[in-house]
Amino acid sequence: MKIALIGCGKQAEKHISGLRAAGVDNIVVADSNMDAAISLSEAQQLTIATVEDAITDPDVAAVDICTPTSSHVDLVKFAIENGKDWICEKPLSNTLQEAKELETLTTEKNLIGMVGFIYRFAPAFEEASRIFKGSGNSAVLGNVNSVSFRIGGRGGHRLWKHMKDERGGAINEMLVHMLDLAIWYFGEVKSVEIQELDLRRPVRNVEGLRREVDAEDYVAVKVLTESGVTVNLQADLITPAFTQFMEVQGDNGSFFGSIQKEFPNYVFLISPSGGYKPGYNQIEFVTTKLFDVQMRAFVRAIRSRNAPCRSTVADSVRVMEAMQLIKDACTAK
Ligand SMILES: NC(=O)c1ccc[n+]([C@@H]2O[C@H](COP(=O)([O-])OP(=O)(O)OC[C@H]3O[C@@H](n4cnc5c(N)ncnc54)[C@H](O)[C@@H]3O)[C@@H](O)[C@H]2O)c1
Repeated sequence: MKIALIGCGKQAEKHISGLRAAGVDNIVVADSNMDAAISLSEAQQLTIATVEDAITDPDVAAVDICTPTSSHVDLVKFAIENGKDWICEKPLSNTLQEAKELETLTTEKNLIGMVGFIYRFAPAFEEASRIFKGSGNSAVLGNVNSVSFRIGGRGGHRLWKHMKDERGGAINEMLVHMLDLAIWYFGEVKSVEIQELDLRRPVRNVEGLRREVDAEDYVAVKVLTESGVTVNLQADLITPAFTQFMEVQGDNGSFFGSIQKEFPNYVFLISPSGGYKPGYNQIEFVTTKLFDVQMRAFVRAIRSRNAPCRSTVADSVRVMEAMQLIKDACTAK
């Protein structure tokens, strides 16, 4: 199988490692910046092409898009026009309308589409999907009373990640991952309330220079799901030590999970349920390379012609429905 990887920046190396773990060695890389493509092709011993040649290559089965968010839709459409299966980094699009259009085009051509919501492959969050099963009444924790997700980091190495017009900022870069998990666990979003929306570090070091930036770097949102669960989401680009976790309180106990091995992952129960004993139950943190698992799922979907096991285009349409509510609420604020 030959795959074209578009966008030779930070994510590309992780995707290449994942593709290789999935048994795909025939990878052609392309970037609108030729220097970036040459440098990655040399470092990874891969062939190189222009973006157009890579996507139209008749031997290429699928396209892997690792470019900035503002370019996703055009590149996915071009891949679909050329009959290629595709995986695209998150978030899929800028608007809900675009996500729906990509879903329709992918379905019409019977193609495989997947979006890079990597948190869905973290062991603690996979376990959480079994515990919550898309509803507010978990068989294990009982009625869910309180949910908080937090994700914070310094923000990316590139200026576009801090600029509004280029679709950077804490919402697109960080919050969207937590929103995706919230929808996976508790169902579609009914309404949102923006609690805080801020730019706290308007001047910051990016790409080795002092830069003025304009995208939000702190956001707190209260989300109400169709299943009646209230989820508090907080995301930022101001946290020096990357920090991510989820905590849930139910009538029968607590859940705490993170993508980071520095944090505990546990279920605490009052009464035994779902194979868990009363008291603390440690969830084993298996150190897997999440991108390897994600890319294996993509390659498996291509080979079997079945939809990917998670992070489908339909999932992203639901995420973009909620993102649209959040963006509208931010504009109104
Ligand atoms: N899943 C995750 O955990 C995760 C983490 C970080 C970033 N991301 C996402 O991955 C994507 C890429 O992020 P990154 O950190 O690799 O960015 P980056 O800026 O490091 O790399 C992007 C590359 O794409 C190239 N590019 C830009 N526009 C292009 C176009 N139209 N055609 C071809 N090449 C183009 C740039 O020249 C650059 O080399 C973004 O959507 C981002 O949100 C996901």
